[in-house]
Amino acid sequence: MASVLVARTAELAVLADAYARACEAGPVTVLVGGEAGIGKSRLVAEFAARLPSRTRVVRGDCLEAGGGFAYAPFIAAMRALVRDLGAERAAGLLPGGGRLGLAHWLPVLGVAPDEPDPVYGRARLYEDVLTLVEGAALERPLAVVLEDLHWADPSSRELLAFLVHNLSGPGVLLVGTYRSTDLDERHPLRPVLAGLARSPRVRLLEPAPLTCDEVGGLVAARLGYRPERGVVEEIARRSEGNPLFVEALADAGAQGGTPRRLRDLLLAGFRVLPDGSRGVLHAASVASAWGGGLAHRFLASVTGLDDLALEDAIRPAVDRGLLLADGGGYTFRHALLRQAVYEDVLPSARARLHKRAGAALQADPDLVPDGRAAAEEAAHWCAAGEKEQAFDALWRAAASARAVHAHPEQLRILERVLRQWDGITEPERVLGADRIDVLHRAAEACLSAGEAARGVDLASEALAALDQERDPRRAVLLLELRSMLRHRLGDPALDDLRAAVALLPDGAPAAVRGRPLSTLANRLFLMSSPDESRALAAEALAAGRESGDARVRAWALLTLGSLDGAAGDLDAGLARIAEAAEIARAAGESAVPLVIAAMAEADALHGMGLDERAAEVVASGMETARRAGLDRDQGAGLAAKGAEPLWELGRWDEAAALLRGVLALDPPPLFRALAQVNLGFLLLAQGDAAAAGEAADAAYAVMGDRYWGKAFRLPLHDLRCRVAMARDDLAAADGILARALDGPGLSETSRFVWPLLLTGARLCGERLARSAADPGAARGARERLAELRDLAGRLPVIGPVQHAYRASFRAEAGDQGWDEAVRAWRELGRPYRLAWALFRAAEEPGVPSVEAAERCREAASIAARLGAKLLLRDIELLAARARLSLDEPVPEPAPEPAAPDPARRLGLTRRETEVLRLVADGRSNRQIAEALFISARTAGVHVSNILAKLRVASRTEAAALAHRLRLFEPPAG
Ligand SMILES: Nc1ncnc2c1ncn2[C@@H]1O[C@H](COP(=O)(O)OP(=O)(O)OP(=O)(O)O)[C@@H](O)[C@H]1O
Ligand SMILES: [Mg+2]
Repeated sequence: MASVLVARTAELAVLADAYARACEAGPVTVLVGGEAGIGKSRLVAEFAARLPSRTRVVRGDCLEAGGGFAYAPFIAAMRALVRDLGAERAAGLLPGGGRLGLAHWLPVLGVAPDEPDPVYGRARLYEDVLTLVEGAALERPLAVVLEDLHWADPSSRELLAFLVHNLSGPGVLLVGTYRSTDLDERHPLRPVLAGLARSPRVRLLEPAPLTCDEVGGLVAARLGYRPERGVVEEIARRSEGNPLFVEALADAGAQGGTPRRLRDLLLAGFRVLPDGSRGVLHAASVASAWGGGLAHRFLASVTGLDDLALEDAIRPAVDRGLLLADGGGYTFRHALLRQAVYEDVLPSARARLHKRAGAALQADPDLVPDGRAAAEEAAHWCAAGEKEQAFDALWRAAASARAVHAHPEQLRILERVLRQWDGITEPERVLGADRIDVLHRAAEACLSAGEAARGVDLASEALAALDQERDPRRAVLLLELRSMLRHRLGDPALDDLRAAVALLPDGAPAAVRGRPLSTLANRLFLMSSPDESRALAAEALAAGRESGDARVRAWALLTLGSLDGAAGDLDAGLARIAEAAEIARAAGESAVPLVIAAMAEADALHGMGLDERAAEVVASGMETARRAGLDRDQGAGLAAKGAEPLWELGRWDEAAALLRGVLALDPPPLFRALAQVNLGFLLLAQGDAAAAGEAADAAYAVMGDRYWGKAFRLPLHDLRCRVAMARDDLAAADGILARALDGPGLSETSRFVWPLLLTGARLCGERLARSAADPGAARGARERLAELRDLAGRLPVIGPVQHAYRASFRAEAGDQGWDEAVRAWRELGRPYRLAWALFRAAEEPGVPSVEAAERCREAASIAARLGAKLLLRDIELLAARARLSLDEPVPEPAPEPAAPDPARRLGLTRRETEVLRLVADGRSNRQIAEALFISARTAGVHVSNILAKLRVASRTEAAALAHRLRLFEPPAG
């Protein structure tokens, strides 16, 4: 039905402007929202028709909820795009011709592997979609229209967000429509839209209701004459300017009488059809219950009519504009109309029709587009109340969802299969699979759907039901799967991997042995068991070579390369990591190993102090992760660790942005914890001990005290220890230190132990400084320091970073001066560490004041540049105490010998000094008042003045500062 377009000039201009910008400056997304029938689809169609002819327009519709099939709009849009480009050109744009990604959707791109990769497949697919869209747009501008996003399946929502955030390059316009009135508080599209709307490349557009004049124009066009003003006003009032209702009211009015209810209004045209036509429309509304078009053959099969009879029955409906006919099929003019017709079918007839539709699809899955048959069939059987048929179809629907990497849907369907299990007689016979198979598949789906905790439960249930002795192969797979799921939750899960390896039957083929061995080897590396890790990685590598499994080879090489790097053989390590990346790239499997390789490479470089190079590797690895849709996953891990070289280089803003970016993505718990630890160090250095403490607590809640990979655990404890020191809770700090250093394998992780030793030495120094009056406490601190010295004596020193740490440790422990540490950090180019060392060097007894001032000045200028507030304040206080000028390049010559009362140099009065001494002893205002014979209020006033003069926020901090500056120590000697 050709009809005029009324209004919409402004809306079309917005779309045209977005298109122009997309062509010039890169991708733009327009989201068109509004109530049903307001004219979103029409607006977008009119806009598309006005685009220059060289622009490609592809479109995909979301299907009405309930069917359980995934990616419907994207599959349709990509199919249209590939058709337009030609399969060969499309394949040419994609890595590996799209065989491992997009071919799962579009068989014209080649035969996808039978076994879709449950772990990496989705990333590959997303990367293909991105690459294809960007590649096509380079050639000619491309508009992708996604209709009815309020019905989008979870996978489509995810892919939409991925595309909007990751598209780059000019020439792509995304247009999405959605019914804003359908989005209640808990609608899952809401958070997605909110996230998208924050992007500067996204615009929102809401077509306005028609004015009374516009309604008049529409009615006139519809009826072929201009009705009286009163009639138009009445239609405008009742329709509230909604074109769909305007049309229906105009039609109904033309037929006499104006129905009250919306449904009756929509059905007005339907009601006057001949009986036979109404029956066919009933059947059509049931057969297309989940939206989309309806093939003529499908309708014929459900109605049982031959072609002639069917065409006769349909013609009046097409003539009246109720059904649109195109390309061998039909669609209802509007979804609301389809719904109204569906509701008009009597319940008993509805069940019968659903049953016929289910049977038709079972006999011929090609009646609906690829991948949808099983899910639609299941939905029809369900609606018909046919339990067993539905059960079987659901199992097949889960397999289709898996084949297109729609893991959230796959999981949802499998959960239904599991729930229905007990109500089916002989379920194994119906499915040709047992319950353990279903549980296994569901647990596997959890891994990709980001539902690790649920996955652990499912895998555990499967393992409990399995006779592991009799079926070791299945047990090995399930154990490895469960360990991967547990690992996501921050649990090393070595026991599962060891059990899997132990179960490997003698003479198991290389293809079976490789995976559990390589996974265990890698996990053992993280757990700092290098010898066992190396042996198993070598075995895995051999198995991988024998079976030709690229992933096993890549993993084994990554582990071996990381081990080399940790042992100080950087060249060998980097070579192996590069080889692993090369294997992964050649296999074209997915970007996951590439991102992990970047992580390993950056880590090896950073460990040897080559921070600039490490930062570059991180940046390019992040780009790989972003393109492959791995930002939330491996990309988050890379960013969390990748912040370290940036922070050491003094690029704190970049480090903070990277870490906050990771946390905003809501990554898996372990990666979140890693990011929090590094953010904690940053916050602490910036002087926000409270926020640092929160970050440490959050990370601790995930990692806890469990014997987890030391590379993760030791930095966390270092942070917690320092937070406790900043809070002046030295006992707690010591407890954390003691626990962290307790346990085997420390010498294997010297890299992470050295920083902790340094923190420990500093802690012992503070404890000693304030235990002058407490011989017991002093002894405790000395004993701890002796323990640390002993450990330091045994610990390997691998590379220049560890050398610098050892020099700092020795200086902090009072065993040597700070010169060596200053030199070492300076050579490494790590400004914060250098500033610390300079500050401590300035405090050294016996340093001539000219030199001390110079050191202070350099330290202060670095600290100021970094924004290291805590350190800067300490430096300023030191300068004030020792009368060193931080401003003048030439300090006043020969200052007096150290003043007897350093507190006075801080500007404290004699009385305030006395009060501070008591504060440092942990006395309350009342106790201070009693001791000094003043009122508690006066004591409080003194304390406030002291806090202000010392520029600290609390009495605890004041006490800590007094101790750190050794204000109340008896004179040395
Ligand atoms: N500006 C317009 N001029 C003339 N007819 C219009 C206009 N806007 C919409 N219509 C007509 O109103 C009907 C409903 O419009 P449309 O299908 O675009 O609504 P929609 O907002 O996409 O609804 P839904 O949310 O259900 O998808 C269609 O028949 C359409 O042709
Ligand atoms: Mg629409």
